[in-house]
Amino acid sequence: MDKISVLIPQEQIEKRICEMADRINQKYEGETVHLIGILKGSVFFLCELAKHLTIPVTMDFMSVSSYGDETSSSGRVRILMDLSDSIKDKHVIVVEDIIDSGNTLSYLLPFLGSRKPLSIELVTLLNKPDRREKEVTVADTGFDIPDAFVVGYGLDYAQKYRNLPYIGVVEIEKGENDE
Ligand code: IMP
Ligand code: MG
Repeated sequence: MDKISVLIPQEQIEKRICEMADRINQKYEGETVHLIGILKGSVFFLCELAKHLTIPVTMDFMSVSSYGDETSSSGRVRILMDLSDSIKDKHVIVVEDIIDSGNTLSYLLPFLGSRKPLSIELVTLLNKPDRREKEVTVADTGFDIPDAFVVGYGLDYAQKYRNLPYIGVVEIEKGENDE
């Protein structure tokens, strides 16, 4: 079992997501927004955000390759599962769990933008500014966090710990033969 210490408690995450939803409610008043969740990490954030939206909402999901079971980005992005609906003429909000190197989103946003949505913006629960390699424009960030590997609230380490209701820092256990 890896040791996990709490970085951001559940109440603080949910309070912040409420504020993020308020901004969207105000900005898109009178419109419908189309949320795009990037699987799998953004699911918990997307659900919590959507529950606090008072404007009409539709949603869709896509899956892109990221780290595999490692903790550093390969720099390459692959579409594993595309959207099921067209985004043409929709107000798209891409919902992401965390922006780390920026590799994924710096590829994905122009890719989705080429499908002619009415507008497109990105919201992310977490951001690691110290790790940025590629520029990404973010409309709203939940929390800036230090350069540590985090889990919980949708984020995984080797597919585990997504279900933790808080954001925690995992101290990755070394095998017996490691230095
Ligand atoms: P980027 O392309 O380097 O910005 O990485 C984005 C993706 O890497 C995220 O959507 C996550 O799936 C994954 N990732 C980056 N940092 C972490 C972390 O600290 N914990 C878990 N997953 C992470
Ligand atoms: Mg992700």
